[in-house]
Amino acid sequence: MSAIQARVIGLIVSAVVIFGSGVWLTSAGRPYAVVLQTVHKLTALAAVIVSGVTVYQAMRIGALPTAESIVVWVAAVLVIASFASGGVVSASDAAPVWVLWLHRVAPWFAGVLTAVSVYFTAGRA
Ligand code: HEM
Repeated sequence: MSAIQARVIGLIVSAVVIFGSGVWLTSAGRPYAVVLQTVHKLTALAAVIVSGVTVYQAMRIGALPTAESIVVWVAAVLVIASFASGGVVSASDAAPVWVLWLHRVAPWFAGVLTAVSVYFTAGRA
């Protein structure tokens, strides 16, 4: 198995853990289970770093076509929004409702567009 295949498999497993634990956190509600929340955020952190490095390394090799780079940048904005809103929701008992909903919606789009971004770029690395 090549390094890039191992990375992609790791990202798929991470996505299952992140989205599975996220939906579980939402359905169980507050107070959030500490272990579940820790698994959720640390796996999200690792996945963001690995997918960011994968996409960045490939983009350094040469410019992506415009449409593909738009997808990558929109994915990056959604990942930042997901991470920041997740941090606010978990840190504050009184998080604004729009931040909670941002964290319930943005991650799904972030996940899909990040997968597409890795698909566009992983083959170039
Ligand atoms: C890119 C990073 C992240 C992704 C993709 C992600 C994904 C998700 C998803 C899919 C859900 C379930 C939403 C639903 O039911 O539709 C969720 C819920 C949740 N996430 Fe994240 N998450 C991320 C980062 C974080 C971080 C960094 C934290 C905490 C520091 C966090 C804390 C939470 C909490 C507390 C919930 C439950 C919110 C609720 O009550 O509905 N997440 N996350």
